[in-house]
Amino acid sequence: MLEAVKELLLEVKKFVPTSATELEEFRLSFLGKKGKMNELFTAFKDVPNENKKEFGQTINTLKQNAQTKVDQYKDSFKVEEKSSEIDLSRPVSLNNLGSRHPISLIRNEIVEIFNRIGFTVSEGPEIEDDWHNFSALNLPEEHPARDMQDTFFIQSNPDILLRTHTSSVQVRYMQGNKPPIRTLSPGRVYRNEAISARAHCIFHQVEGLYIDENVSFADLKQALLYFAKEMFGEKTKIRLRPSYFPFTEPSAEVDVSCNICNSKGCNVCKYTGYLEILGCGMVDPNVLENCGIDSKKYTGFAFGMGIERIAMLKYGVKDLRLFFENDFRFLKQFSAL
Ligand code: PHE
Repeated sequence: MLEAVKELLLEVKKFVPTSATELEEFRLSFLGKKGKMNELFTAFKDVPNENKKEFGQTINTLKQNAQTKVDQYKDSFKVEEKSSEIDLSRPVSLNNLGSRHPISLIRNEIVEIFNRIGFTVSEGPEIEDDWHNFSALNLPEEHPARDMQDTFFIQSNPDILLRTHTSSVQVRYMQGNKPPIRTLSPGRVYRNEAISARAHCIFHQVEGLYIDENVSFADLKQALLYFAKEMFGEKTKIRLRPSYFPFTEPSAEVDVSCNICNSKGCNVCKYTGYLEILGCGMVDPNVLENCGIDSKKYTGFAFGMGIERIAMLKYGVKDLRLFFENDFRFLKQFSAL
Protein backbone atom coordinates (compact mmCIF):
# COMPACT_ATOMS: atom_id res chain seq x y z
CA MET A 1 0.00 0.00 0.00
CA LEU A 2 2.68 2.43 1.07
CA GLU A 3 4.65 1.47 -2.00
CA ALA A 4 1.72 2.45 -4.24
CA VAL A 5 1.53 5.85 -2.54
CA LYS A 6 5.25 6.38 -3.01
CA GLU A 7 4.83 5.65 -6.73
CA LEU A 8 2.09 8.22 -6.87
CA LEU A 9 4.42 10.70 -5.20
CA LEU A 10 6.90 10.07 -7.96
CA GLU A 11 4.22 10.45 -10.59
CA VAL A 12 3.22 13.84 -9.15
CA LYS A 13 6.82 14.94 -9.03
CA LYS A 14 7.37 14.08 -12.68
CA PHE A 15 4.14 15.54 -13.93
CA VAL A 16 4.58 18.55 -16.22
CA PRO A 17 1.32 19.67 -17.88
CA THR A 18 1.40 20.97 -21.44
CA SER A 19 -2.05 22.48 -21.46
CA ALA A 20 -4.76 23.75 -19.15
CA THR A 21 -6.86 20.66 -19.99
CA GLU A 22 -4.10 18.33 -19.00
CA LEU A 23 -3.64 20.15 -15.73
CA GLU A 24 -7.36 19.98 -15.03
CA GLU A 25 -7.37 16.23 -15.72
CA PHE A 26 -4.49 15.84 -13.27
CA ARG A 27 -6.30 17.90 -10.63
CA LEU A 28 -9.46 15.82 -10.94
CA SER A 29 -7.60 12.51 -10.85
CA PHE A 30 -5.86 13.41 -7.59
CA LEU A 31 -7.90 16.04 -5.83
CA GLY A 32 -11.37 15.62 -7.33
CA LYS A 33 -14.28 14.09 -5.39
CA LYS A 34 -13.74 10.72 -7.02
CA GLY A 35 -9.98 11.20 -7.16
CA LYS A 36 -7.11 9.15 -5.75
CA MET A 37 -6.74 11.24 -2.59
CA ASN A 38 -10.24 10.54 -1.41
CA GLU A 39 -9.72 6.83 -2.12
CA LEU A 40 -6.54 6.89 -0.03
CA PHE A 41 -8.16 8.73 2.86
CA THR A 42 -10.91 6.10 2.89
CA ALA A 43 -8.31 3.33 2.78
CA PHE A 44 -6.50 4.97 5.73
CA LYS A 45 -9.15 3.55 8.12
CA ASP A 46 -8.09 -0.01 7.34
CA VAL A 47 -4.33 0.54 7.69
CA PRO A 48 -2.95 -1.34 10.72
CA ASN A 49 -2.31 0.98 13.65
CA GLU A 50 1.47 0.62 13.65
CA ASN A 51 1.62 1.83 10.03
CA LYS A 52 -0.93 4.63 10.39
CA LYS A 53 1.60 7.33 11.21
CA GLU A 54 3.86 6.80 8.22
CA PHE A 55 0.98 6.15 5.83
CA GLY A 56 -0.85 9.23 7.06
CA GLN A 57 2.16 11.47 6.63
CA THR A 58 2.86 10.13 3.16
CA ILE A 59 -0.64 10.65 1.83
CA ASN A 60 -0.68 14.13 3.34
CA THR A 61 2.56 14.91 1.49
CA LEU A 62 1.07 13.46 -1.68
CA LYS A 63 -1.96 15.70 -1.37
CA GLN A 64 0.16 18.76 -0.70
CA ASN A 65 2.45 18.02 -3.63
CA ALA A 66 -0.49 17.50 -5.98
CA GLN A 67 -2.03 20.77 -4.82
CA THR A 68 1.29 22.60 -5.23
CA LYS A 69 1.60 21.30 -8.80
CA VAL A 70 -1.86 22.56 -9.64
CA ASP A 71 -1.17 25.96 -8.08
CA GLN A 72 2.19 26.17 -9.75
CA TYR A 73 0.84 25.67 -13.26
CA LYS A 74 -2.65 27.11 -13.28
CA ASP A 75 -1.43 30.70 -13.57
CA SER A 76 1.11 29.91 -16.23
CA PHE A 77 -1.62 28.69 -18.59
CA LYS A 78 -3.72 31.78 -17.99
CA VAL A 79 -0.80 34.01 -18.85
CA GLU A 80 -0.15 31.98 -21.96
CA GLU A 81 -3.72 32.38 -23.19
CA LYS A 82 -3.68 36.11 -22.52
CA SER A 83 -0.43 36.68 -24.27
CA SER A 84 -1.76 34.99 -27.41
CA GLU A 85 -4.68 37.41 -27.36
CA ILE A 86 -2.37 40.36 -27.48
CA ASP A 87 0.17 38.93 -29.89
CA LEU A 88 0.87 42.03 -31.93
CA SER A 89 2.43 40.07 -34.76
CA ARG A 90 -0.77 38.19 -35.53
CA PRO A 91 -2.44 39.09 -38.83
CA VAL A 92 -5.48 41.32 -38.32
CA SER A 93 -8.93 39.81 -38.59
CA LEU A 94 -10.81 41.66 -41.29
CA ASN A 95 -13.90 43.59 -40.25
CA ASN A 96 -16.80 43.48 -42.63
CA LEU A 97 -17.29 47.02 -43.82
CA GLY A 98 -20.83 48.33 -43.66
CA SER A 99 -22.42 50.11 -46.59
CA ARG A 100 -24.90 52.88 -47.09
CA HIS A 101 -28.57 52.03 -47.35
CA PRO A 102 -29.91 52.44 -50.92
CA ILE A 103 -32.33 55.12 -49.69
CA SER A 104 -29.40 57.12 -48.29
CA LEU A 105 -27.48 56.66 -51.53
CA ILE A 106 -30.34 58.07 -53.60
CA ARG A 107 -31.05 60.82 -51.10
CA ASN A 108 -27.42 61.92 -51.26
CA GLU A 109 -27.42 61.79 -55.04
CA ILE A 110 -30.55 63.95 -55.27
CA VAL A 111 -29.10 66.44 -52.79
CA GLU A 112 -25.82 66.59 -54.71
CA ILE A 113 -27.54 67.17 -58.03
CA PHE A 114 -29.51 70.12 -56.67
CA ASN A 115 -26.52 71.39 -54.70
CA ARG A 116 -24.82 71.98 -58.01
CA ILE A 117 -27.50 74.51 -58.95
CA GLY A 118 -27.44 76.28 -55.62
CA PHE A 119 -29.94 74.40 -53.43
CA THR A 120 -29.02 73.78 -49.80
CA VAL A 121 -30.55 71.33 -47.35
CA SER A 122 -33.02 72.35 -44.64
CA GLU A 123 -34.55 70.07 -42.05
CA GLY A 124 -37.51 70.18 -39.70
CA PRO A 125 -39.47 68.14 -37.17
CA GLU A 126 -41.22 64.88 -38.05
CA ILE A 127 -43.92 65.59 -35.48
CA GLU A 128 -45.65 68.67 -36.85
CA ASP A 129 -48.56 70.92 -36.07
CA ASP A 130 -51.56 71.20 -38.32
CA TRP A 131 -50.66 74.70 -39.48
CA HIS A 132 -47.21 73.85 -40.89
CA ASN A 133 -48.36 70.61 -42.51
CA PHE A 134 -51.70 71.81 -43.88
CA SER A 135 -53.16 75.26 -43.21
CA ALA A 136 -50.14 77.30 -44.28
CA LEU A 137 -50.04 75.26 -47.49
CA ASN A 138 -53.47 76.43 -48.54
CA LEU A 139 -55.23 73.47 -47.00
CA PRO A 140 -57.58 75.01 -44.43
CA GLU A 141 -59.57 72.79 -42.09
CA GLU A 142 -62.31 70.80 -43.82
CA HIS A 143 -60.51 71.17 -47.16
CA PRO A 144 -61.29 67.98 -49.08
CA ALA A 145 -57.72 67.72 -50.39
CA ARG A 146 -56.59 66.86 -46.86
CA ASP A 147 -57.92 63.40 -47.64
CA MET A 148 -55.26 63.04 -50.34
CA GLN A 149 -52.78 62.38 -47.54
CA ASP A 150 -54.12 59.98 -44.92
CA THR A 151 -52.72 61.44 -41.78
CA PHE A 152 -51.55 59.94 -38.49
CA PHE A 153 -52.71 62.25 -35.72
CA ILE A 154 -51.33 62.17 -32.20
CA GLN A 155 -54.35 60.90 -30.32
CA SER A 156 -54.30 63.21 -27.34
CA ASN A 157 -54.01 66.34 -29.52
CA PRO A 158 -55.63 66.51 -32.98
CA ASP A 159 -53.53 69.56 -33.76
CA ILE A 160 -50.34 67.49 -33.67
CA LEU A 161 -49.55 64.94 -36.38
CA LEU A 162 -46.78 63.04 -38.11
CA ARG A 163 -45.85 65.13 -41.13
CA THR A 164 -47.31 63.78 -44.36
CA HIS A 165 -44.76 65.59 -46.54
CA THR A 166 -41.66 67.69 -46.07
CA SER A 167 -43.45 70.75 -47.48
CA SER A 168 -43.86 71.58 -43.79
CA VAL A 169 -40.11 72.17 -43.60
CA GLN A 170 -40.35 74.63 -46.46
CA VAL A 171 -43.06 76.56 -44.63
CA ARG A 172 -40.70 76.85 -41.68
CA TYR A 173 -37.86 77.87 -43.99
CA MET A 174 -39.93 80.60 -45.67
CA GLN A 175 -40.92 81.97 -42.26
CA GLY A 176 -37.29 82.24 -41.20
CA ASN A 177 -35.60 83.36 -44.44
CA LYS A 178 -35.97 86.09 -47.02
CA PRO A 179 -35.90 85.40 -50.80
CA PRO A 180 -33.99 84.46 -52.81
CA ILE A 181 -34.66 80.99 -51.42
CA ARG A 182 -33.29 77.76 -52.84
CA THR A 183 -33.86 74.97 -50.38
CA LEU A 184 -34.15 71.23 -50.42
CA SER A 185 -35.89 69.25 -47.65
CA PRO A 186 -35.15 65.56 -47.51
CA GLY A 187 -36.74 63.51 -44.76
CA ARG A 188 -39.03 60.82 -43.47
CA VAL A 189 -42.78 61.23 -43.88
CA TYR A 190 -45.79 59.26 -42.67
CA ARG A 191 -49.12 58.33 -44.22
CA ASN A 192 -51.78 55.98 -43.00
CA GLU A 193 -51.67 53.66 -45.98
CA ALA A 194 -51.84 49.89 -46.25
CA ILE A 195 -48.36 48.47 -46.77
CA SER A 196 -47.87 46.93 -50.20
CA ALA A 197 -45.24 46.54 -52.90
CA ARG A 198 -45.92 50.15 -53.96
CA ALA A 199 -46.80 51.95 -50.72
CA HIS A 200 -45.66 52.13 -47.12
CA CYS A 201 -46.86 54.08 -44.10
CA ILE A 202 -43.35 55.49 -43.69
CA PHE A 203 -41.34 56.68 -46.64
CA HIS A 204 -38.84 59.36 -47.63
CA GLN A 205 -39.21 62.49 -49.65
CA VAL A 206 -37.10 65.25 -51.06
CA GLU A 207 -38.95 68.48 -51.68
CA GLY A 208 -37.46 71.55 -53.32
CA LEU A 209 -38.40 75.21 -53.23
CA TYR A 210 -37.12 78.14 -55.26
CA ILE A 211 -38.36 81.66 -54.64
CA ASP A 212 -37.08 84.85 -56.21
CA GLU A 213 -38.25 87.68 -58.44
CA ASN A 214 -39.41 86.54 -61.89
CA VAL A 215 -39.23 82.80 -61.31
CA SER A 216 -41.30 81.18 -64.04
CA PHE A 217 -42.71 77.82 -65.02
CA ALA A 218 -39.96 77.60 -67.67
CA ASP A 219 -37.37 77.71 -64.83
CA LEU A 220 -39.17 74.83 -63.13
CA LYS A 221 -39.17 72.76 -66.33
CA GLN A 222 -35.52 73.42 -66.93
CA ALA A 223 -34.50 72.56 -63.36
CA LEU A 224 -36.42 69.29 -63.53
CA LEU A 225 -35.03 68.36 -66.93
CA TYR A 226 -31.53 68.95 -65.56
CA PHE A 227 -32.34 66.75 -62.56
CA ALA A 228 -33.79 63.93 -64.70
CA LYS A 229 -30.75 63.87 -66.98
CA GLU A 230 -28.31 63.87 -64.05
CA MET A 231 -30.23 61.12 -62.29
CA PHE A 232 -31.27 58.83 -65.12
CA GLY A 233 -28.84 59.67 -67.93
CA GLU A 234 -28.21 62.26 -70.60
CA LYS A 235 -30.82 60.90 -73.03
CA THR A 236 -33.67 61.12 -70.53
CA LYS A 237 -36.71 63.13 -71.57
CA ILE A 238 -39.37 64.52 -69.26
CA ARG A 239 -43.10 64.96 -69.73
CA LEU A 240 -45.35 67.20 -67.67
CA ARG A 241 -49.00 66.37 -67.08
CA PRO A 242 -51.41 68.88 -65.55
CA SER A 243 -52.29 67.97 -62.00
CA TYR A 244 -53.61 69.45 -58.79
CA PHE A 245 -51.93 70.33 -55.51
CA PRO A 246 -53.51 72.86 -53.14
CA PHE A 247 -50.18 74.63 -52.59
CA THR A 248 -49.19 75.11 -56.23
CA GLU A 249 -50.92 76.71 -59.18
CA PRO A 250 -50.52 75.60 -61.89
CA SER A 251 -49.47 72.11 -60.82
CA ALA A 252 -48.03 69.22 -62.77
CA GLU A 253 -46.91 65.67 -62.45
CA VAL A 254 -43.58 64.83 -64.07
CA ASP A 255 -42.73 61.63 -65.90
CA VAL A 256 -39.32 60.54 -67.15
CA SER A 257 -38.79 58.47 -70.26
CA CYS A 258 -38.41 54.80 -69.42
CA ASN A 259 -34.76 53.91 -69.90
CA ILE A 260 -35.43 50.20 -69.62
CA CYS A 261 -37.24 50.05 -72.99
CA ASN A 262 -36.12 53.41 -74.42
CA SER A 263 -39.73 54.57 -74.26
CA LYS A 264 -40.86 51.76 -76.56
CA GLY A 265 -43.09 50.33 -73.82
CA CYS A 266 -42.41 47.54 -71.33
CA ASN A 267 -44.01 46.10 -68.24
CA VAL A 268 -42.08 48.48 -65.94
CA CYS A 269 -43.56 51.56 -67.60
CA LYS A 270 -46.80 49.68 -68.22
CA TYR A 271 -46.34 50.16 -71.98
CA THR A 272 -46.61 53.96 -71.70
CA GLY A 273 -42.90 54.66 -72.30
CA TYR A 274 -42.87 56.99 -69.28
CA LEU A 275 -42.57 56.69 -65.47
CA GLU A 276 -44.00 59.14 -62.98
CA ILE A 277 -41.35 60.54 -60.62
CA LEU A 278 -42.61 63.70 -58.93
CA GLY A 279 -45.20 66.43 -58.36
CA CYS A 280 -44.51 70.12 -58.84
CA GLY A 281 -45.90 73.53 -59.58
CA MET A 282 -45.69 77.30 -59.07
CA VAL A 283 -46.07 78.14 -55.39
CA ASP A 284 -49.62 79.41 -54.78
CA PRO A 285 -49.52 83.12 -53.82
CA ASN A 286 -51.62 82.28 -50.73
CA VAL A 287 -48.82 80.07 -49.47
CA LEU A 288 -46.25 82.84 -49.95
CA GLU A 289 -48.45 85.30 -48.06
CA ASN A 290 -49.12 82.78 -45.25
CA CYS A 291 -45.37 82.53 -44.77
CA GLY A 292 -44.71 86.28 -44.82
CA ILE A 293 -43.42 86.61 -48.40
CA ASP A 294 -44.74 89.37 -50.68
CA SER A 295 -46.50 87.49 -53.48
CA LYS A 296 -46.60 90.58 -55.70
CA LYS A 297 -42.84 90.81 -55.73
CA TYR A 298 -41.86 87.17 -55.59
CA THR A 299 -42.83 83.98 -57.36
CA GLY A 300 -41.47 80.51 -56.93
CA PHE A 301 -41.64 76.86 -57.83
CA ALA A 302 -41.79 73.76 -55.69
CA PHE A 303 -41.47 70.07 -56.33
CA GLY A 304 -41.59 66.92 -54.27
CA MET A 305 -40.56 63.34 -54.91
CA GLY A 306 -40.53 60.03 -53.08
CA ILE A 307 -36.99 58.70 -52.61
CA GLU A 308 -38.18 55.07 -52.60
CA ARG A 309 -39.81 55.61 -55.98
CA ILE A 310 -36.64 57.05 -57.50
CA ALA A 311 -34.59 54.22 -55.95
CA MET A 312 -36.98 51.60 -57.35
CA LEU A 313 -36.66 53.06 -60.84
CA LYS A 314 -32.92 53.55 -60.67
CA TYR A 315 -32.09 50.12 -59.23
CA GLY A 316 -34.96 48.14 -60.76
CA VAL A 317 -36.40 47.19 -57.36
CA LYS A 318 -39.96 45.89 -57.73
CA ASP A 319 -41.08 45.82 -54.09
CA LEU A 320 -40.81 48.91 -51.92
CA ARG A 321 -40.97 46.85 -48.73
CA LEU A 322 -37.44 45.59 -49.38
CA PHE A 323 -36.10 49.00 -48.36
CA PHE A 324 -37.51 48.58 -44.86
CA GLU A 325 -36.80 44.94 -44.11
CA ASN A 326 -33.02 45.30 -43.73
CA ASP A 327 -32.42 41.90 -45.28
CA PHE A 328 -28.67 41.60 -45.51
CA ARG A 329 -28.83 39.82 -48.88
CA PHE A 330 -30.65 42.83 -50.34
CA LEU A 331 -28.54 45.54 -48.71
CA LYS A 332 -25.22 43.89 -49.61
CA GLN A 333 -25.93 44.45 -53.29
CA PHE A 334 -25.44 48.19 -52.79
CA SER A 335 -22.16 47.97 -50.92
CA ALA A 336 -20.06 48.60 -54.01
CA LEU A 337 -21.93 51.79 -54.91
N1 PHE B 1 -46.09 67.74 -51.16
C1 PHE B 1 -46.50 66.95 -52.28
C2 PHE B 1 -46.72 65.51 -51.84
O1 PHE B 1 -46.25 65.15 -50.81
C3 PHE B 1 -45.50 66.97 -53.39
C4 PHE B 1 -45.36 68.32 -54.01
C5 PHE B 1 -44.44 69.22 -53.53
C6 PHE B 1 -46.15 68.69 -55.08
C7 PHE B 1 -44.31 70.45 -54.10
C8 PHE B 1 -46.03 69.91 -55.64
C9 PHE B 1 -45.11 70.79 -55.18
O2 PHE B 1 -47.37 64.77 -52.49
